[in-house]
Amino acid sequence: MHDVTHAAPWTISQRAADKPALYRDLAEELDALLQGESDPTANAANAAAAIYHSLPDLNWAGFYFLRDDLLVLGPFQGRPACVRIPIGRGVCGTAAATGRSILVPDVDAFPGHIACDSASRSELVIPLLAGGRLLGVLDLDSPVLARFDAADQTGCEALAAIVVRHIG
Ligand code: SME
Repeated sequence: MHDVTHAAPWTISQRAADKPALYRDLAEELDALLQGESDPTANAANAAAAIYHSLPDLNWAGFYFLRDDLLVLGPFQGRPACVRIPIGRGVCGTAAATGRSILVPDVDAFPGHIACDSASRSELVIPLLAGGRLLGVLDLDSPVLARFDAADQTGCEALAAIVVRHIG
């Protein structure tokens, strides 16, 4: 097991070869980072920054939150992004509509993919669910084709569950 106590913050990408361990460490650090703060915007902002700077090969990491029946841009790291996404549209809107994570190895092969940053080649979207209630989605983009695999999906679902506990 890694000793996270003395690890420099957000240098976990150096251990990217061991994804389950990377995500276990990041989950622990994220939980500690958000602990004791109740403001949802502050916690989502710090979560986006922690994820973006911890996982290798990302060009965007952040949140869309459900506002009425639209997903509206929340805290993120990366280039400016589209602000409003209808439920059912794009990768984010599809994850929101189905309540399931969507792993897209090649964004050009996903019908209706919304290109916010032309550098994005692959994408992973995790719905934020609080007891079955949709709060929004966590969206990760990568400039690398097929950047995300099942281990990333499992790891990011755990991160999303931690975020939900601190913004719900
Ligand atoms: N690609 C997303 C839109 C959001 S950006 O990637 C930040 C989609 O298809 O829903």
